[in-house]
Amino acid sequence: MIQSSVKSLLALTAPLENALVQGWVKTRRDSKTFSFLEINDGSCQRNFQVIVDATCPGYETIKSVLTGTAVSIEGAVVASQGKGQSWEMHASRFCIVGSCPETFPLQKKGHTVEFLREIPHLRARTNRFGAMFRVRSRLAFAVHNFFQSRGFHYVHTPLITTSDCEGAGELFRVTTLPLENLPKTESGAIDYSQDFFNKQAFLTVSGQLEAETLACALGKVYTFGPTFRAENSHTSRHASEFWMIEPEMAFTDLSGDIDVAEAFVKYLVNDIVENCPDELAFFDKFVSKGLLERLRHVLERPFVRVSYTEAIGILQKSGEKFEFPPVWGEALQSEHERYLTERHFQSPVAVYDYPKDAKPFYMRQNDDGKTVAAADLLVPGIGEIIGGSQREERLERLLDAMKKAGLDLETYNAYIDLRRFGSVPHAGFGLGFERMLMFVTGEGNIRDVIPFPRTPGSAK
Ligand code: 4AD
Ligand code: MG
Repeated sequence: MIQSSVKSLLALTAPLENALVQGWVKTRRDSKTFSFLEINDGSCQRNFQVIVDATCPGYETIKSVLTGTAVSIEGAVVASQGKGQSWEMHASRFCIVGSCPETFPLQKKGHTVEFLREIPHLRARTNRFGAMFRVRSRLAFAVHNFFQSRGFHYVHTPLITTSDCEGAGELFRVTTLPLENLPKTESGAIDYSQDFFNKQAFLTVSGQLEAETLACALGKVYTFGPTFRAENSHTSRHASEFWMIEPEMAFTDLSGDIDVAEAFVKYLVNDIVENCPDELAFFDKFVSKGLLERLRHVLERPFVRVSYTEAIGILQKSGEKFEFPPVWGEALQSEHERYLTERHFQSPVAVYDYPKDAKPFYMRQNDDGKTVAAADLLVPGIGEIIGGSQREERLERLLDAMKKAGLDLETYNAYIDLRRFGSVPHAGFGLGFERMLMFVTGEGNIRDVIPFPRTPGSAK
Protein backbone atom coordinates (compact mmCIF):
# COMPACT_ATOMS: atom_id res chain seq x y z
CA MET A 1 0.00 0.00 0.00
CA ILE A 2 1.21 3.51 -0.78
CA GLN A 3 1.92 5.74 2.16
CA SER A 4 -0.31 8.82 2.48
CA SER A 5 1.03 12.01 3.99
CA VAL A 6 -0.82 13.47 6.95
CA LYS A 7 -1.25 16.60 4.87
CA SER A 8 -3.06 14.73 2.12
CA LEU A 9 -5.22 12.80 4.59
CA LEU A 10 -6.33 15.97 6.37
CA ALA A 11 -7.29 17.43 2.99
CA LEU A 12 -9.54 14.49 2.03
CA THR A 13 -13.03 15.27 0.78
CA ALA A 14 -14.43 11.77 1.30
CA PRO A 15 -13.61 8.86 3.64
CA LEU A 16 -10.92 6.35 2.63
CA GLU A 17 -11.39 2.68 3.24
CA ASN A 18 -7.74 1.86 3.57
CA ALA A 19 -4.70 4.08 3.99
CA LEU A 20 -1.16 3.80 5.32
CA VAL A 21 0.28 6.53 7.50
CA GLN A 22 3.84 6.60 8.86
CA GLY A 23 5.39 9.08 11.23
CA TRP A 24 6.45 9.84 14.79
CA VAL A 25 4.19 9.71 17.79
CA LYS A 26 3.66 13.02 19.58
CA THR A 27 1.36 11.72 22.30
CA ARG A 28 -0.48 8.58 23.37
CA ARG A 29 -3.58 8.49 25.51
CA ASP A 30 -5.12 5.22 26.64
CA SER A 31 -8.64 4.32 27.59
CA LYS A 32 -9.80 0.85 28.60
CA THR A 33 -10.30 -0.67 25.19
CA PHE A 34 -8.39 1.57 22.82
CA SER A 35 -5.61 4.17 22.53
CA PHE A 36 -5.43 7.57 20.85
CA LEU A 37 -2.21 8.44 19.05
CA GLU A 38 -1.22 11.83 17.68
CA ILE A 39 1.10 11.29 14.70
CA ASN A 40 3.25 13.83 12.91
CA ASP A 41 5.07 12.97 9.70
CA GLY A 42 6.55 16.38 8.89
CA SER A 43 4.29 16.95 5.88
CA CYS A 44 2.40 19.72 7.65
CA GLN A 45 1.99 21.53 10.94
CA ARG A 46 -0.98 19.51 12.10
CA ASN A 47 -0.93 16.05 13.69
CA PHE A 48 -3.12 13.14 12.68
CA GLN A 49 -5.26 11.33 15.21
CA VAL A 50 -5.26 7.54 15.07
CA ILE A 51 -7.46 5.29 17.19
CA VAL A 52 -5.99 1.89 17.84
CA ASP A 53 -8.54 -0.56 19.20
CA ALA A 54 -7.53 -3.33 21.61
CA THR A 55 -8.55 -5.87 18.95
CA CYS A 56 -6.17 -4.36 16.33
CA PRO A 57 -3.17 -6.55 15.38
CA GLY A 58 -0.11 -4.98 17.02
CA TYR A 59 -2.08 -3.50 19.93
CA GLU A 60 -0.14 -5.69 22.38
CA THR A 61 2.89 -3.42 21.81
CA ILE A 62 0.98 -0.14 22.41
CA LYS A 63 2.21 0.34 25.98
CA SER A 64 5.77 0.71 24.72
CA VAL A 65 4.77 3.53 22.35
CA LEU A 66 6.30 6.66 23.88
CA THR A 67 6.73 10.17 22.47
CA GLY A 68 9.15 9.99 19.54
CA THR A 69 8.38 6.40 18.52
CA ALA A 70 8.27 5.80 14.76
CA VAL A 71 5.14 3.94 13.70
CA SER A 72 3.46 2.56 10.61
CA ILE A 73 -0.32 2.24 10.68
CA GLU A 74 -2.94 1.02 8.24
CA GLY A 75 -6.60 1.70 8.62
CA ALA A 76 -9.77 3.44 7.53
CA VAL A 77 -9.90 7.22 7.41
CA VAL A 78 -13.25 8.49 8.65
CA ALA A 79 -14.78 11.79 9.67
CA SER A 80 -13.61 12.68 13.16
CA GLN A 81 -16.00 13.16 16.06
CA GLY A 82 -13.45 15.14 18.05
CA LYS A 83 -12.90 18.83 17.57
CA GLY A 84 -9.78 20.26 15.94
CA GLN A 85 -9.50 17.78 13.09
CA SER A 86 -11.72 16.78 10.20
CA TRP A 87 -10.45 13.21 9.69
CA GLU A 88 -9.01 10.46 11.83
CA MET A 89 -7.86 6.89 11.30
CA HIS A 90 -9.28 3.73 12.81
CA ALA A 91 -6.33 1.37 12.71
CA SER A 92 -6.58 -2.12 11.25
CA ARG A 93 -2.88 -2.87 11.59
CA PHE A 94 -0.39 -1.24 13.92
CA CYS A 95 3.37 -1.59 13.87
CA ILE A 96 6.31 0.02 15.66
CA VAL A 97 9.09 0.88 13.17
CA GLY A 98 11.57 2.37 15.63
CA SER A 99 11.09 2.47 19.39
CA CYS A 100 11.98 5.53 21.44
CA PRO A 101 12.94 5.38 25.12
CA GLU A 102 11.98 7.87 27.83
CA THR A 103 15.41 9.47 27.50
CA PHE A 104 14.27 11.12 24.24
CA PRO A 105 14.88 14.79 25.09
CA LEU A 106 11.73 16.13 23.43
CA GLN A 107 9.06 15.08 25.87
CA LYS A 108 5.73 16.86 25.83
CA LYS A 109 6.72 19.84 27.99
CA GLY A 110 7.88 23.02 26.26
CA HIS A 111 11.58 23.60 25.81
CA THR A 112 13.56 26.81 25.54
CA VAL A 113 15.11 27.59 22.17
CA GLU A 114 18.47 27.71 23.94
CA PHE A 115 18.06 24.09 25.03
CA LEU A 116 16.91 23.09 21.54
CA ARG A 117 19.99 24.71 19.97
CA GLU A 118 22.04 22.11 21.83
CA ILE A 119 20.28 19.34 19.89
CA PRO A 120 20.06 20.60 16.29
CA HIS A 121 19.73 17.00 15.03
CA LEU A 122 16.48 16.52 16.95
CA ARG A 123 14.87 19.93 17.15
CA ALA A 124 13.25 19.66 13.70
CA ARG A 125 10.80 17.28 15.37
CA THR A 126 9.31 20.08 17.46
CA ASN A 127 6.35 22.11 16.20
CA ARG A 128 8.40 25.27 16.14
CA PHE A 129 11.30 23.97 14.08
CA GLY A 130 9.15 21.78 11.86
CA ALA A 131 7.19 24.94 11.01
CA MET A 132 10.39 26.86 10.39
CA PHE A 133 11.93 24.35 8.04
CA ARG A 134 8.74 24.02 6.01
CA VAL A 135 8.59 27.82 5.69
CA ARG A 136 12.27 27.80 4.74
CA SER A 137 11.62 25.29 1.98
CA ARG A 138 8.65 27.22 0.64
CA LEU A 139 10.54 30.52 0.80
CA ALA A 140 13.36 29.08 -1.31
CA PHE A 141 10.79 27.93 -3.88
CA ALA A 142 9.20 31.39 -3.89
CA VAL A 143 12.59 32.99 -4.53
CA HIS A 144 12.94 30.96 -7.71
CA ASN A 145 9.33 31.60 -8.74
CA PHE A 146 9.77 35.35 -8.41
CA PHE A 147 12.86 35.54 -10.59
CA GLN A 148 11.98 32.81 -13.07
CA SER A 149 8.62 34.43 -13.82
CA ARG A 150 10.41 37.73 -14.50
CA GLY A 151 12.96 36.46 -17.00
CA PHE A 152 15.95 36.19 -14.66
CA HIS A 153 18.40 33.32 -15.18
CA TYR A 154 19.62 31.34 -12.19
CA VAL A 155 23.43 31.34 -12.20
CA HIS A 156 25.88 29.45 -10.04
CA THR A 157 28.86 31.40 -8.82
CA PRO A 158 31.87 29.76 -7.17
CA LEU A 159 32.08 29.15 -3.45
CA ILE A 160 35.87 29.06 -3.63
CA THR A 161 37.19 32.44 -4.70
CA THR A 162 40.36 34.49 -4.76
CA SER A 163 38.76 37.93 -4.32
CA ASP A 164 37.20 39.75 -1.37
CA CYS A 165 34.01 41.24 -2.80
CA GLU A 166 33.01 43.29 0.23
CA GLY A 167 36.60 44.31 1.02
CA ALA A 168 36.04 43.73 4.72
CA GLY A 169 38.69 41.00 5.08
CA GLU A 170 36.22 38.63 6.72
CA LEU A 171 37.34 35.61 4.74
CA PHE A 172 37.73 31.96 5.64
CA ARG A 173 40.84 30.54 4.03
CA VAL A 174 40.80 27.49 1.79
CA THR A 175 44.14 25.73 1.82
CA THR A 176 45.80 22.33 1.74
CA LEU A 177 49.12 23.65 3.03
CA PRO A 178 50.31 21.88 6.19
CA LEU A 179 49.56 24.38 8.96
CA GLU A 180 52.25 22.96 11.23
CA ASN A 181 54.95 23.32 8.57
CA LEU A 182 54.16 26.12 6.14
CA PRO A 183 56.36 26.51 3.05
CA LYS A 184 58.13 29.87 3.01
CA THR A 185 59.51 32.10 0.28
CA GLU A 186 63.06 33.44 0.47
CA SER A 187 61.78 36.56 2.20
CA GLY A 188 60.10 34.42 4.87
CA ALA A 189 56.48 34.94 3.76
CA ILE A 190 54.11 31.99 3.30
CA ASP A 191 54.64 30.54 -0.17
CA TYR A 192 51.10 30.27 -1.53
CA SER A 193 52.40 29.25 -4.95
CA GLN A 194 52.71 25.78 -3.39
CA ASP A 195 49.09 25.82 -2.26
CA PHE A 196 46.31 23.86 -4.00
CA PHE A 197 45.30 26.68 -6.36
CA ASN A 198 48.86 28.08 -6.62
CA LYS A 199 47.60 31.16 -4.83
CA GLN A 200 45.60 32.20 -1.79
CA ALA A 201 41.95 31.12 -1.91
CA PHE A 202 38.92 31.73 0.30
CA LEU A 203 35.28 30.83 0.81
CA THR A 204 33.18 33.48 -0.90
CA VAL A 205 31.49 36.30 1.01
CA SER A 206 29.31 37.15 -2.00
CA GLY A 207 28.77 35.97 -5.57
CA GLN A 208 28.24 39.50 -6.80
CA LEU A 209 31.41 40.06 -8.81
CA GLU A 210 30.87 36.90 -10.83
CA ALA A 211 27.12 37.62 -11.10
CA GLU A 212 27.96 41.00 -12.64
CA THR A 213 29.93 39.31 -15.41
CA LEU A 214 27.00 36.98 -16.12
CA ALA A 215 24.43 39.82 -16.05
CA CYS A 216 26.52 41.57 -18.69
CA ALA A 217 25.82 38.63 -20.99
CA LEU A 218 22.50 37.15 -19.89
CA GLY A 219 20.84 40.44 -18.95
CA LYS A 220 19.09 39.54 -15.73
CA VAL A 221 20.49 36.89 -13.40
CA TYR A 222 20.27 35.81 -9.79
CA THR A 223 22.34 33.65 -7.50
CA PHE A 224 21.01 31.72 -4.53
CA GLY A 225 23.60 29.93 -2.47
CA PRO A 226 25.66 29.79 0.68
CA THR A 227 28.11 32.53 1.63
CA PHE A 228 30.64 32.62 4.43
CA ARG A 229 31.85 35.39 6.68
CA ALA A 230 34.53 35.11 9.32
CA GLU A 231 32.99 38.09 11.05
CA ASN A 232 33.35 37.98 14.81
CA SER A 233 29.86 39.41 15.41
CA HIS A 234 28.04 37.86 18.32
CA THR A 235 24.55 39.08 17.50
CA SER A 236 21.18 37.51 16.86
CA ARG A 237 21.40 38.50 13.17
CA HIS A 238 24.86 37.31 12.09
CA ALA A 239 25.82 33.80 11.04
CA SER A 240 29.18 32.66 9.70
CA GLU A 241 27.49 30.58 7.02
CA PHE A 242 24.30 31.98 5.54
CA TRP A 243 22.41 31.89 2.27
CA MET A 244 22.13 34.91 0.06
CA ILE A 245 20.11 35.77 -3.03
CA GLU A 246 21.86 38.17 -5.36
CA PRO A 247 20.02 39.45 -8.42
CA GLU A 248 22.04 41.48 -10.91
CA MET A 249 20.50 43.43 -13.80
CA ALA A 250 22.11 45.01 -16.86
CA PHE A 251 20.76 48.39 -18.04
CA THR A 252 19.37 49.18 -14.57
CA ASP A 253 20.00 52.09 -12.24
CA LEU A 254 19.59 52.43 -8.49
CA SER A 255 15.93 53.34 -8.49
CA GLY A 256 15.13 50.35 -10.74
CA ASP A 257 17.13 48.23 -8.31
CA ILE A 258 15.08 49.42 -5.32
CA ASP A 259 11.86 48.77 -7.27
CA VAL A 260 12.85 45.12 -7.74
CA ALA A 261 13.93 44.79 -4.11
CA GLU A 262 10.57 46.09 -2.89
CA ALA A 263 8.57 43.89 -5.27
CA PHE A 264 10.70 40.89 -4.24
CA VAL A 265 10.23 41.31 -0.48
CA LYS A 266 6.48 41.81 -0.90
CA TYR A 267 6.22 38.80 -3.19
CA LEU A 268 8.00 36.59 -0.63
CA VAL A 269 5.86 37.80 2.27
CA ASN A 270 2.68 37.27 0.28
CA ASP A 271 3.73 33.80 -0.86
CA ILE A 272 4.33 32.62 2.69
CA VAL A 273 1.10 34.20 3.97
CA GLU A 274 -0.80 32.33 1.25
CA ASN A 275 1.02 29.01 1.29
CA CYS A 276 2.03 28.46 4.92
CA PRO A 277 -1.06 29.58 6.87
CA ASP A 278 -0.78 26.94 9.61
CA GLU A 279 2.90 27.66 10.17
CA LEU A 280 2.34 31.42 10.32
CA ALA A 281 -0.61 30.97 12.67
CA PHE A 282 1.75 29.01 14.92
CA PHE A 283 4.41 31.73 14.87
CA ASP A 284 1.78 34.41 15.42
CA LYS A 285 0.43 32.57 18.45
CA PHE A 286 3.57 31.23 20.12
CA VAL A 287 6.59 33.17 18.87
CA SER A 288 5.70 36.69 17.79
CA LYS A 289 2.26 38.05 18.65
CA GLY A 290 0.77 40.27 15.96
CA LEU A 291 2.99 38.81 13.23
CA LEU A 292 0.20 38.35 10.65
CA GLU A 293 -1.06 41.86 11.18
CA ARG A 294 2.45 43.26 10.70
CA LEU A 295 2.99 41.24 7.54
CA ARG A 296 -0.31 42.48 6.09
CA HIS A 297 0.77 46.01 6.82
CA VAL A 298 4.01 45.41 4.88
CA LEU A 299 2.04 44.28 1.84
CA GLU A 300 -0.36 47.19 1.86
CA ARG A 301 1.84 50.25 1.56
CA PRO A 302 4.77 51.41 -0.56
CA PHE A 303 8.11 51.22 1.26
CA VAL A 304 9.58 54.53 2.41
CA ARG A 305 12.63 55.80 0.49
CA VAL A 306 14.95 58.26 2.16
CA SER A 307 18.51 59.40 1.41
CA TYR A 308 21.27 58.66 3.88
CA THR A 309 21.73 62.40 4.40
CA GLU A 310 18.05 62.87 5.26
CA ALA A 311 18.20 59.81 7.52
CA ILE A 312 21.13 61.26 9.48
CA GLY A 313 19.13 64.50 9.87
CA ILE A 314 16.13 62.56 11.23
CA LEU A 315 18.33 60.67 13.69
CA GLN A 316 20.09 63.81 14.89
CA LYS A 317 16.79 65.61 15.45
CA SER A 318 15.13 62.61 17.09
CA GLY A 319 16.14 63.57 20.63
CA GLU A 320 16.98 59.88 21.08
CA LYS A 321 20.00 58.87 23.23
CA PHE A 322 21.97 56.58 20.92
CA GLU A 323 24.99 54.63 22.07
CA PHE A 324 26.73 55.86 18.90
CA PRO A 325 25.68 59.44 18.06
CA PRO A 326 24.73 59.61 14.36
CA VAL A 327 27.43 61.41 12.36
CA TRP A 328 27.37 62.07 8.61
CA GLY A 329 30.03 59.93 6.93
CA GLU A 330 29.79 56.91 9.20
CA ALA A 331 27.94 53.64 8.68
CA LEU A 332 24.48 53.46 10.24
CA GLN A 333 24.54 51.44 13.44
CA SER A 334 21.93 48.81 14.05
CA GLU A 335 20.29 51.08 16.69
CA HIS A 336 19.99 53.82 14.03
CA GLU A 337 18.50 51.46 11.48
CA ARG A 338 15.96 50.19 13.94
CA TYR A 339 14.97 53.66 15.06
CA LEU A 340 14.27 54.64 11.45
CA THR A 341 12.25 51.58 10.51
CA GLU A 342 10.54 50.78 13.83
CA ARG A 343 9.94 54.16 15.42
CA HIS A 344 10.18 56.96 12.91
CA PHE A 345 8.66 55.46 9.75
CA GLN A 346 7.11 52.27 11.19
CA SER A 347 7.58 50.73 7.77
CA PRO A 348 10.30 49.08 5.69
CA VAL A 349 12.68 51.84 4.56
CA ALA A 350 15.15 51.97 1.68
CA VAL A 351 18.05 54.27 2.60
CA TYR A 352 20.04 55.34 -0.46
CA ASP A 353 23.14 57.36 -1.43
CA TYR A 354 25.56 56.46 1.34
CA PRO A 355 28.91 58.21 1.92
CA LYS A 356 31.43 56.53 -0.35
CA ASP A 357 33.97 55.82 2.38
CA ALA A 358 31.45 53.70 4.28
CA LYS A 359 30.85 51.35 1.31
CA PRO A 360 32.82 48.92 -0.92
CA PHE A 361 34.80 49.89 -4.04
CA TYR A 362 32.34 48.65 -6.67
CA MET A 363 29.51 51.11 -6.00
CA ARG A 364 28.77 53.82 -8.55
CA GLN A 365 30.08 57.23 -7.57
CA ASN A 366 27.50 59.99 -7.50
CA ASP A 367 28.11 63.42 -9.03
CA ASP A 368 28.34 65.08 -5.60
CA GLY A 369 31.77 63.47 -5.17
CA LYS A 370 30.82 62.34 -1.65
CA THR A 371 28.25 59.59 -1.98
CA VAL A 372 27.70 56.34 -3.91
CA ALA A 373 24.52 54.90 -5.43
CA ALA A 374 23.95 52.33 -2.70
CA ALA A 375 20.69 51.30 -1.07
CA ASP A 376 20.00 49.23 2.03
CA LEU A 377 16.52 48.01 2.88
CA LEU A 378 15.74 48.16 6.60
CA VAL A 379 12.79 46.35 8.17
CA PRO A 380 11.22 46.46 11.64
CA GLY A 381 12.55 43.91 14.09
CA ILE A 382 15.74 43.24 12.18
CA GLY A 383 17.27 46.31 10.56
CA GLU A 384 19.22 45.66 7.35
CA ILE A 385 17.77 42.83 5.29
CA ILE A 386 19.04 43.88 1.85
CA GLY A 387 22.23 45.61 0.75
CA GLY A 388 22.59 46.71 -2.86
CA SER A 389 23.85 49.30 -5.29
CA GLN A 390 24.27 50.48 -8.82
CA ARG A 391 27.76 49.37 -9.91
CA GLU A 392 30.51 51.65 -11.18
CA GLU A 393 30.50 50.95 -14.92
CA ARG A 394 33.04 53.68 -15.87
CA LEU A 395 36.53 52.23 -16.21
CA GLU A 396 38.53 55.20 -14.91
CA ARG A 397 36.25 55.77 -11.92
CA LEU A 398 36.41 52.09 -11.00
CA LEU A 399 40.21 51.90 -11.26
CA ASP A 400 40.41 54.99 -9.11
CA ALA A 401 38.22 53.47 -6.39
CA MET A 402 40.10 50.16 -6.50
CA LYS A 403 43.44 51.87 -6.07
CA LYS A 404 42.09 53.89 -3.15
CA ALA A 405 40.86 50.64 -1.57
CA GLY A 406 44.38 49.20 -1.96
CA LEU A 407 43.24 46.28 -4.12
CA ASP A 408 45.59 44.24 -6.25
CA LEU A 409 44.30 45.11 -9.73
CA GLU A 410 45.80 41.95 -11.21
CA THR A 411 43.42 39.80 -9.10
CA TYR A 412 40.39 41.74 -10.35
CA ASN A 413 41.37 41.82 -14.04
CA ALA A 414 38.27 39.96 -15.17
CA TYR A 415 36.05 42.36 -13.27
CA ILE A 416 37.82 45.33 -14.83
CA ASP A 417 37.49 43.77 -18.31
CA LEU A 418 33.71 44.17 -18.03
CA ARG A 419 34.26 47.94 -18.11
CA ARG A 420 36.48 47.59 -21.19
CA PHE A 421 34.19 45.49 -23.36
CA GLY A 422 30.68 46.87 -23.81
CA SER A 423 30.23 48.29 -20.34
CA VAL A 424 26.65 49.10 -19.31
CA PRO A 425 24.95 50.61 -16.27
CA HIS A 426 23.94 47.74 -14.02
CA ALA A 427 22.73 47.20 -10.50
CA GLY A 428 21.87 44.48 -8.03
CA PHE A 429 21.41 43.61 -4.39
CA GLY A 430 21.82 40.86 -1.84
CA LEU A 431 19.00 39.57 0.35
CA GLY A 432 20.05 37.59 3.41
CA PHE A 433 17.84 34.49 3.23
CA GLU A 434 17.95 33.86 6.99
CA ARG A 435 17.08 37.48 7.77
CA MET A 436 14.12 37.23 5.42
CA LEU A 437 13.04 34.08 7.28
CA MET A 438 13.29 35.93 10.58
CA PHE A 439 11.14 38.68 9.09
CA VAL A 440 8.33 36.43 7.86
CA THR A 441 8.22 34.23 10.96
CA GLY A 442 8.99 36.76 13.69
CA GLU A 443 11.72 34.44 15.01
CA GLY A 444 14.23 36.62 16.85
CA ASN A 445 17.49 34.73 16.46
CA ILE A 446 19.23 33.68 13.25
CA ARG A 447 20.32 30.47 15.01
CA ASP A 448 16.71 29.32 14.92
CA VAL A 449 15.98 29.74 11.20
CA ILE A 450 18.73 27.50 9.77
CA PRO A 451 18.94 23.78 10.59
CA PHE A 452 22.61 23.71 11.60
CA PRO A 453 23.74 27.25 12.49
CA ARG A 454 27.40 28.21 12.23
CA THR A 455 28.34 31.16 14.41
CA PRO A 456 31.60 32.25 16.07
CA GLY A 457 32.59 29.48 18.47
CA SER A 458 29.84 27.09 17.39
CA ALA A 459 29.60 24.55 14.55
CA LYS A 460 27.57 21.61 15.83
O1 4AD B 1 25.18 44.03 2.65
P1 4AD B 1 25.94 42.83 2.18
O2 4AD B 1 27.27 42.59 2.78
O3 4AD B 1 26.02 42.99 0.60
C1 4AD B 1 26.68 42.17 -0.26
O4 4AD B 1 27.24 41.14 0.04
C2 4AD B 1 26.56 42.59 -1.69
N1 4AD B 1 27.61 41.92 -2.46
C3 4AD B 1 25.17 42.27 -2.21
C4 4AD B 1 24.96 42.68 -3.63
O5 4AD B 1 24.85 43.86 -3.89
N2 4AD B 1 24.91 41.73 -4.54
O6 4AD B 1 25.06 41.53 2.43
C5 4AD B 1 23.78 41.42 1.85
C6 4AD B 1 22.78 40.89 2.87
C7 4AD B 1 22.61 41.77 4.10
O7 4AD B 1 21.71 42.82 3.86
C8 4AD B 1 22.07 40.78 5.10
O8 4AD B 1 20.68 40.55 4.92
C9 4AD B 1 22.80 39.50 4.72
O9 4AD B 1 23.22 39.64 3.38
N3 4AD B 1 23.97 39.27 5.59
C10 4AD B 1 24.01 38.38 6.58
N4 4AD B 1 23.09 37.50 7.01
C11 4AD B 1 23.43 36.70 8.03
N5 4AD B 1 24.64 36.71 8.63
C12 4AD B 1 25.60 37.58 8.23
N6 4AD B 1 26.80 37.56 8.83
C13 4AD B 1 25.29 38.45 7.16
N7 4AD B 1 25.98 39.41 6.50
C14 4AD B 1 25.17 39.90 5.56
MG1 MG C 1 25.32 45.53 3.99
